[in-house]
Amino acid sequence: MGTDRPRAGAARGLRALKEQEPGGYPFPGPPLLGPPPERLYGRSRSRPPSARQRRLLAEVLPRLRLTPGDALDPGKAFSPRPAEVWLEVGFGAGEHALAIREARPDIGLIACEVFENGVASLLSRLVPEGAETMTVLPGNLRLWDEDARLLIRALPAASIGRLFLMFPDPWPKARHAKRRFVHPLFLPEVARILAPGAEWRIATDDPVHQGWVGEVLVGQDFFAVSAPASARPAEWPPTRYETKALNAGRAVLYWRLVRRG
Ligand SMILES: C[S@@+](CC[C@H](N)C(=O)[O-])C[C@H]1O[C@@H](n2cnc3c(N)ncnc32)[C@H](O)[C@@H]1O
Repeated sequence: MGTDRPRAGAARGLRALKEQEPGGYPFPGPPLLGPPPERLYGRSRSRPPSARQRRLLAEVLPRLRLTPGDALDPGKAFSPRPAEVWLEVGFGAGEHALAIREARPDIGLIACEVFENGVASLLSRLVPEGAETMTVLPGNLRLWDEDARLLIRALPAASIGRLFLMFPDPWPKARHAKRRFVHPLFLPEVARILAPGAEWRIATDDPVHQGWVGEVLVGQDFFAVSAPASARPAEWPPTRYETKALNAGRAVLYWRLVRRG
């Protein structure tokens, strides 16, 4: 777990979300359908942050962090209020999130990542060294540095115009299947926050996970799904993990789902 804890108000909100009983949401939304995910994530790190990373996490992250309160009306968290709010789950080092943000200044992007080194990596691309306190931060980007599933439960219905799930952790062992983001019991919660016609992009290179995603999508009616592509669609920015997968010779599948109206 990281040492950079959320502000007190945000921490209280997150505790409330984590302790909630099915049906007892502090935010608008449906009761949980079936058991909750096996495990929720707090912030994690692979190594202690460097001095530069500590500055970024202490001085820049609080200015970009989306709070549980912001989640009630996510469009209001951006300046100016965007035409649509999009969501990326598990941004890794942030290349994809930053490419989307640059390509679409009219969109408000909420980028989620629990891995502290990843959050610091994204921030380091936004803010030159030594300018941590004075850089003007983009008005169309907000970060959620807790489990994205907590945010999804807090967001209003039909509030998200596009969702990106690029190379999620595949949890290939059968006994860990409940931790997968694409899951029959979690699908209704994801569908709830997506506006009619919203696109959900999923990419994965793990063969077990590819089979799983295909099976879960066949058994649902929330999304129109076409066959996955085997090459990245031209308008999808690359990700760091994708480059590693392709360099290692793994075959990637790319799904485009459309939320039914
Ligand atoms: C395999 S990496 C891929 C990163 C990036 N999307 C890419 O393609 O380079 C998956 C990332 O998702 C993050 N992650 C997994 N579950 C998450 C969750 N429930 N909420 C937020 N982030 C999550 C992990 O910390 C990890 O950095």
